[in-house]
Amino acid sequence: TYLTFNVENAKQFISKNDILSVQDNTNAAHEKLHEKTGAGNDYLGWLDLPNTYDKSEYQKIEQCAKEIQRNSDILLVIGIGGSYLGARAAIELLTHSFQNELTNKKRSVPKVIFVGHHMSATYINDLIEMLDGQDVSINVISKSGTTTESAIAFRIFKKYMEKKYGKDEVRKRIYVTTDQERGALKTIANKEKYQTFVIPDDVGGRYSVLTSVGLLPIAVSGISIDEMMDGAKKASEELSNRNLEENPCYQYAAVRNILYERGKLIELLVSYEPSFHYFQEWWKQLFGESEGKNGKGIFPAAASFSTDLHSLGQYIQDGERHLFQTIIHVEEPKSDISIEYDESNEDGLNYLVGKTVNEVNDKAFEGALLAHTEGGVPSFVIQLPKLDAFTFGYLVYFFEKACAISGYLLGVNPFDQPGVEDYKRNMFRLLGKPTF
Ligand code: PA5
Repeated sequence: TYLTFNVENAKQFISKNDILSVQDNTNAAHEKLHEKTGAGNDYLGWLDLPNTYDKSEYQKIEQCAKEIQRNSDILLVIGIGGSYLGARAAIELLTHSFQNELTNKKRSVPKVIFVGHHMSATYINDLIEMLDGQDVSINVISKSGTTTESAIAFRIFKKYMEKKYGKDEVRKRIYVTTDQERGALKTIANKEKYQTFVIPDDVGGRYSVLTSVGLLPIAVSGISIDEMMDGAKKASEELSNRNLEENPCYQYAAVRNILYERGKLIELLVSYEPSFHYFQEWWKQLFGESEGKNGKGIFPAAASFSTDLHSLGQYIQDGERHLFQTIIHVEEPKSDISIEYDESNEDGLNYLVGKTVNEVNDKAFEGALLAHTEGGVPSFVIQLPKLDAFTFGYLVYFFEKACAISGYLLGVNPFDQPGVEDYKRNMFRLLGKPTF
């Protein structure tokens, strides 16, 4: 398979036989998913999406992305949760590490700035100040069309845009991604005649990055959404093999559940490339919202190495033994630097001459893997050949499918999120919202 899942380093905690012994269970989960007979089967649109996605919607995304690239310095993306994290994950992972700091000359595409993913007035005021003198477009994304955080941000920035451009011009600069028919956002879009993109009914927020939800902002960033969909398609082909021994996605789902039953309650998704930060955030939502219910579920956490080896490292090595880690390892990072000879050698680093920074990073990876294994932390490695749009599409599909299978193995509905309503009910009551 394009990506590999290596269980070798965890063999003292979980044997190959342990894994293969759950083949019947993964078969059952596979059938529930593919025959659409499991809990939450109204939300399986993501499963065949790489093959069945709406090509005309997709062309519209590419056209609008070009238009935004042509007329805007900044694209404001308004959304939260599943309507936010996927696009941010892709953009942070696949564009320049300092994308928004590059001068316009070096960056040929608009900056993408996110808002509406919290309710910080300070952030919003600072953003408005920063927008001064720049041409702006907005992509507001909300499946329900009623989410408070994004609705407040949209109300503020809609007014900002109308003041800046006037209603007619704004129509060419606001793009609404929402339900086909329902919700306040759809009503506003119809009334104001904004361009709209449809979020398919059968794709839940956290599984929606490969729909218009993620694809418009991603395309505006200059990332090839064709290659991304090709990667997802490849994954959908390779990862539908029900043979556990040959399917890394099902192996990952299986080992998570076996270890959970053995008291490993927390999973750390680890990367050695800081650009994975928002991918880790996306993954945390995917697994946390899918599995954390009915008093069950692994707590999804993340760490960025080697940075966090200097903070969380102590706990991982030596603290409570309720952890396991899944490490994403990239064989060929985007670039490298050779370590040069220095005459004085005052820093004592001449022993590294001839090596590159990536090689040193890799030794940190090998060293930490060994140490954490000895310290009692089962560690799995997801090996990626490189970091590009194809790989992102593949990885998204890998985790989405693993999450669905893992949720079915755990015995929960991986596609609902009843628990996220509780804080909203309290907040609305405290704010005096009518009917609360
Ligand atoms: O996964 C989910 O369902 C949530 O995280 C939602 O994506 C989030 O609450 C945003 O919802 P909406 O797209 O309706 O604004």
